[in-house]
Amino acid sequence: MSSEPSSPILVGNPGAQNAGRKAAILAAVDRVLDANRYINGPEVAAFEKEFAAFLGTTDAVGVANGTEALALALRAVGVEPGHEVLTIANAGAPIPAAIRMAGAVPRYVDTEARHHTMDPKALAAAITPQTKAVLVVHLYGHPAEIDVIVKVAAAHNLPVIEDCAQAHGARWRGKRAGSFGAASCFSFYPTKNLGAVGDGGLVATNDPAVAARLRLLREYGWDAERRSIARGWNSRLDEMQAAILRIKLRDLDADNARRRAIAARYRAGLAGSSVRVLDTHADAEPVHHLFVVETAQRAGLLAHLKTQGVLGGIHYALPVHTMDPWRPDAAAALPNTERACQTVASLPMYPELTDAEVDRVIAAVRGFAP
Ligand SMILES: Cc1ncc(COP(=O)(O)O)c(C=O)c1O
Repeated sequence: MSSEPSSPILVGNPGAQNAGRKAAILAAVDRVLDANRYINGPEVAAFEKEFAAFLGTTDAVGVANGTEALALALRAVGVEPGHEVLTIANAGAPIPAAIRMAGAVPRYVDTEARHHTMDPKALAAAITPQTKAVLVVHLYGHPAEIDVIVKVAAAHNLPVIEDCAQAHGARWRGKRAGSFGAASCFSFYPTKNLGAVGDGGLVATNDPAVAARLRLLREYGWDAERRSIARGWNSRLDEMQAAILRIKLRDLDADNARRRAIAARYRAGLAGSSVRVLDTHADAEPVHHLFVVETAQRAGLLAHLKTQGVLGGIHYALPVHTMDPWRPDAAAALPNTERACQTVASLPMYPELTDAEVDRVIAAVRGFAP
C-alpha cells in the first residue's frame, strides 16, 4: 500500500501488511471457524512446529503475548520469587513488568554505545550471588552480542533469556537470534516483524524440560488430567492468531530482506546529514524492526518531520530504572542508557514502504537545520 504524496508516512504500518494479505487472512479465519477449534488446537500446534523450524530450535510454545512469554520463560528456567534478574533499562516497560510478574527483582546493566544492546562487560561486572538469570534484548532488530553474553552467564551457571520481540529472524554469526539462550521470547503484537491481528507470543527453547514446563505453566499448571501440578495461569495463543501467523511466517525472510534494503537506502541517503545512524555490527544480520537515528536535537527533528508529513517515534524516551514501579533496589549508574534515551528517534520502517516514500523521509531529515 503506497501513500499519496500528501498523506503522512507512519513510523510503522500493520495496515499496509494486512491489506496485502487480506484474502489469505480471511481464508485462514474461515478455516478456523470451519474446524470449530479455538484454543490450543491444530493451528497452534502447526505454527509452533513451523516457527521452531524457522528458528532452528527443538521446541516452540505459543502463549498470549510477549510480556507473558518473558515471565513464563523466567519461571520455566527456574527463576523464583525474590530472585534477581539482570537486564537493560532502555527497552521499555514489558521487560521489568515480566520480571515482576515472575516474582523476581530487576537490576539493570548498562548498554554499549553503538547498538544500545547489553554491554557484556557491564554484565560481567554486575553479576552477584543474588543474580539468578540474565534477560537480554535484541533491541530494534539488532542482535546483542549473544554468544559472548551466554558465555559470561554460563561461567556463573546463569540461564539467559533472549527477548526477540523486535528481532524475529535476525542472525548473529549466521545463527538465528533466539537459538542461543535457555529460552527465547517473541511478541506478535501487530506492528512486530511477525505481527498477529491482535495479541500473541511464543517461547522457543532447545531444552525439552523447559518446553514441558512452559506447556504446564501456560495453562494453570495442568497435567493431562487437568490436575494443577505447578502454579501457572492462562496464557494461550488462540487458533485464529496462529492460523494468521502461519501465513505471514512464510513471508518473514522476504519482509526482513526488504527492511534491510530500506535501511541501506536510509543509510546512504542520510550520510553527512545532521543525524547519526546506528551502526550494524559486522557479525549481525539485523531485521530493522525500527530504524533508529540519534540527534541532540530530537524534539526539533521530530517536529520538523511532522510538518513534512513524516511521523517519527521514540523508542524509548524514559529508561525504566527512573520509573517508580520499575526502579531497582539500589541506585544504578547507566550513562550510556540515559544518553541513548535522550537522543534516539525512530524513522518510518516497514516492508511496504516504497523507495519514493523512503526518499521523502530522507529529504525531510536532510531539510532539518538544527
Ligand atoms: C523488546 C520487547 N519486549 C517485550 C515486548 C512485549 O510484547 P507484548 O506487547 O506482546 O506483550 C515488546 C513489545 O511491546 C518489546 O518490544
